[in-house]
Amino acid sequence: MQTVKLNNGVEMPVLGYGVFQVPPEMCERCVSEAISVGYRLIDTAQAYYNEEGVGRAITRCGVPRSQLFLTTKIWITNAGEEKAAASIDESLRKLRTDYIDLLLIHQPFSDYTGTWRAMEKAVREGKVRAIGLSNFYPDRFVDMAEYAEIKPAVNQLKTNVFSQQWDAEAEMKPYGTHIMAWGPLAQGDPDLQSNPVLAGLAEKYGKTPQQVALRYLVQRDIIAIPKSTHVERMKQNLDVFDFALTPEEMESIRPLDKPAGFRWSHRDPELVKFLLSYDKQFNPDK
Ligand SMILES: NC(=O)c1ccc[n+]([C@@H]2O[C@H](COP(=O)([O-])OP(=O)(O)OC[C@H]3O[C@@H](n4cnc5c(N)ncnc54)[C@H](OP(=O)(O)O)[C@@H]3O)[C@@H](O)[C@H]2O)c1
Repeated sequence: MQTVKLNNGVEMPVLGYGVFQVPPEMCERCVSEAISVGYRLIDTAQAYYNEEGVGRAITRCGVPRSQLFLTTKIWITNAGEEKAAASIDESLRKLRTDYIDLLLIHQPFSDYTGTWRAMEKAVREGKVRAIGLSNFYPDRFVDMAEYAEIKPAVNQLKTNVFSQQWDAEAEMKPYGTHIMAWGPLAQGDPDLQSNPVLAGLAEKYGKTPQQVALRYLVQRDIIAIPKSTHVERMKQNLDVFDFALTPEEMESIRPLDKPAGFRWSHRDPELVKFLLSYDKQFNPDK
């Protein structure tokens, strides 16, 4: 598996398996299958309510913990130094591990500087190997990166052939921060399947448009974490290391990029309100 070296020297796989919207009761089965077909990076989050399923899978899969790379994320309701610290311990317990490889702030809202301090402390205590951000668009990213003692190792952003994040990449470069792509398959958007540029390249290489879309990301050294509950698709999504796009083919994908926020934007107050209250459906009393 191709790896990416983070800005603190930690190596992580460039391709992994994400479990957003994998129901808790399915999560152990899906993560076990993902590991059995070769995934070593698993991406979960407190707000996915399936960390326990990930924990069961990684302790029962037979692959040593040291060969797995676990990412989780602190949700908004756990923001602030004290609450974030307690939530890190809770995630460790649910994940059945004594360290998290990569811990992220899930959303750029509420007391995220307090959360960051708790994360830096967790690194010093050996509970976490690397820390980073998610959904921090260039303005908030720079604010956080300047504030941080430990510079963010990654920023997990919606990144795919239709949302290529060139501006974000440029702002993050001086801090050595890598893009980690969520929604690398455009969250199942049928336009990805039918796109003629991707379809043409897929035919040339005997691959699917989805495999071309993932290859495009890993060839830019962008860490990608496609999700599927189907083992055949898990295998396909991992099978992108036996071909390479030429520089001209990489360029031919660039015009597929659409303006930032073409579907939804973290700068839209309605989205901010939605995310701030997202947890209520799981914890009505909070
Ligand atoms: N930081 C954040 O705010 C954030 C937000 C969203 C996601 N994430 C992370 O990023 C991961 C991936 O993002 P995502 O799950 O939103 O979207 P995604 O991986 O881009 O797309 C997942 C969708 O594509 C389908 N799919 C998967 N493989 C396929 C294939 N080979 N051919 C055709 N369709 C395929 C899946 O369906 P089936 O399952 O039915 O196969 C599912 O509907 C998440 O699981 C999560 O870990 C993070």
